[in-house]
Amino acid sequence: MENIVKKYTNGEVTIVWKPATCIHSTICWKRATGLPEVFNPMERPWVKPEGATTERIIEQVNKCPSGALSFFMNNESEPAEETSAEAKVEVMPNGPLKVYGDVIVKHTDGKEETKQKVTAFCRCGNSGNKPYCDGSHVKVGFRDE
Ligand code: SF4
Ligand code: FES
Repeated sequence: MENIVKKYTNGEVTIVWKPATCIHSTICWKRATGLPEVFNPMERPWVKPEGATTERIIEQVNKCPSGALSFFMNNESEPAEETSAEAKVEVMPNGPLKVYGDVIVKHTDGKEETKQKVTAFCRCGNSGNKPYCDGSHVKVGFRDE
């Protein structure tokens, strides 16, 4: 499961999904926050890129809090995996802290865990899987202001 990568294309954009990274936040498929015409886990395949415009797909993919969803344009080369030694932290609006890069997380019990590529940390305080985001910020309506 760890390295499975699925790709779905409408001929213009390719949606890339990494199941092991998905935190099942529901953001991509619930009507209030998502694009159920494209992302529908009740159906197979669960991603149907022909369901919306390329622009709308990109907008939705960029809202994925875990980095499980990404995209590349078919007329551009597929981006290489990020190999930068420097970690980058992005504060997602009304959502988690996304940390890009390989990091070691030291938990309150002293145990260490290595996380790779993209990790979403809860910023709203409501995750059932702290310190990671589990998408609960959407349910509780977390707002930055
Ligand atoms: S938005 Fe991302 S993390 Fe959430 S369910 Fe969709 S793919 Fe998984
Ligand atoms: S920020 Fe996502 S659950 Fe808290």
